[in-house]
Order: sequence, then C-alpha cells, then structure tokens
Amino acid sequence: TDRYAVIGNPISHSQSPFIHQEFARALGQDISYEKLFAELGAFRPQVEAFVAAGGKGLNITLPFKGDAFRFAQEVTERARAAEAVNTLTFRDGKVYGDNTDGVGLVRDIVENLDYPIAGQRVLILGAGGAVRGVLEPILQQKPASLTIANRTVIKAEALAHHFARYGKVEAVGYDALAGRSFDIIINATSTSLSNEMPPLPHGVFTARTLAYDMVYSSGLTPFLQRAQGENAGMLADGLGMLVEQAAESFSIWRGIQPDTRKVTNMLREVLA
Ligand code: ATR
Repeated sequence: TDRYAVIGNPISHSQSPFIHQEFARALGQDISYEKLFAELGAFRPQVEAFVAAGGKGLNITLPFKGDAFRFAQEVTERARAAEAVNTLTFRDGKVYGDNTDGVGLVRDIVENLDYPIAGQRVLILGAGGAVRGVLEPILQQKPASLTIANRTVIKAEALAHHFARYGKVEAVGYDALAGRSFDIIINATSTSLSNEMPPLPHGVFTARTLAYDMVYSSGLTPFLQRAQGENAGMLADGLGMLVEQAAESFSIWRGIQPDTRKVTNMLREVLA
C-alpha cells in the first residue's frame, strides 16, 4: 500500500481523502490517503516525518502552498509561475513540486461545463493566492482578454506584472468595471466564505456569461445569487475544480487519469 495524505491547517473539512479513495477504488490502485494537521510554522518537520515513514506524495492546502513550493527541489513551470505547490511527490530521494489548481479550474470550465476559454473575455475577481495559482493555465488557453479586479488595486497590478510573460493581463479596481461585460467571471476572492460578495457594478454579466465561484457550497454563494439575478447564462461553483485538481494529482502520482464525473456527483450528494 502506497501512502499519501493532504496537509493543512485547518484540515478536518478536507474532502481530498474521500476523492482519492474513490479514484483508487475505481482504478484498483492500492493506496492509503489520510489527513495531516500541521501547526503553523511546523510544515517542514511534519513533511519530513511523513517522508521518513515512507510517504509517496502529499497534497498541500492552506496555508502551506508557499512552504511546499520552497520545500520542493524541482518544480514545474506552472508551480513556478504560481510560486505555490499543491502536489508533492517523493521519488528516488527527491522532492518534486507541482500545482494542479489551475489545470483543475481550466478542465472544469472547458471539459465539464463545455465552455471555451480561448477567445473569451475573462474577468477574475481577487488577487490573493487563489488567483496566483490559476493564472498561468488560464493564459495558456489564450483568452481574448484577461482582467483582474481587486479591492486593493496595487495587488492586482503586481499580479498582472508578474504574469506578463505568459500573456497580457489587465489590472483594475471594481469601479472601472462599470459599463463593461465579460464572457467568463471567476470569483477567486475569499468573500463567499464570509457570505459576502465583491463590489461588482451592475451589467458585467450577460446572457452568455459563465459565472464561476471557486468556493463550493450546497446553496448559491452571494456572488452566484447576484449572477443569477442578472441573468448570467451559466452558474458554477468550485466543486468540479476541487475534483479535477485531485484527479491531476492522482495522475502525477499513479500515472493513470481517473474519471471525475462520478466522484463529483457523489460529493455533490454528500455535501447537499
Ligand atoms: P486567497 O489566498 O484565498 O486568495 P487572500 O490572499 O487572503 O486569500 O486573498 C483574499 C482575496 O479576497 C483578496 O483579493 C481580497 O481583496 P484585497 O486584496 O483587497 O484584500 C479579497 N477580498 C476579501 N474580502 C473582500 C471583500 N469584502 N470585498 C472585496 N474583496 C475581498
């Protein structure tokens, strides 16, 4: 049995063990997958103990994705761009880091929701780690334009500058969105967690806009309620992204791509 885990603080709410165990069951893979709690500042010793005990790979969640990036000896381009790692692989005495969040989001939008990103006007709300983690894979899709709106505009500007080598990124405050509309609007702020929403002007959603909240919840988040009220064409939460990023991690570790649809449907029922 090969041993895997997800490490974070807090960690009790994590659905990752359920997802990975279902992938393994469907594919006949002999793995175990547990939750690891680490005190703030104790990421490194926890991970070292896990590796010493024979651990093969880790998923990393808040607030340790930056620590995992620094812990990795080799990282992929998308992890380097994000300066964050959510997947560590321990192989032949080396530590490999990758970030599957962005590809998880892109696959959920392009494949599951069947909504192209290429050629579309994309708006991302927020400028924290959640945004940094997904920008490179979104730019790889060649959107017509990519705009980052944030309450603190200077943070959006810093991200736009950091990612300029991967494609053109515009940074604005929320006020500057008045009179504009977008094909895909992704809420990557932390507002849904406190039942709030970003201060979006009216009119940014159209009848063909995909409104996507990276947070998942049983009911509609305030952002999605607002999108629905403005007749946005499609609404989605982040459950599909959660399962897709897990599938990509699983495939990095096991060399086989799991089927995600069934697990997403199961989780949807569990969380309802
Ligand atoms: P994460 O790593 O999850 O992205 P973060 O780095 O704390 O978390 O970023 C939270 C994001 O939500 C930020 O973009 C923040 O905006 P500021 O940079 O201006 O703080 C955004 N955010 C949080 N509460 C908000 C609110 N009430 N209205 C608008 N944006 C909000």
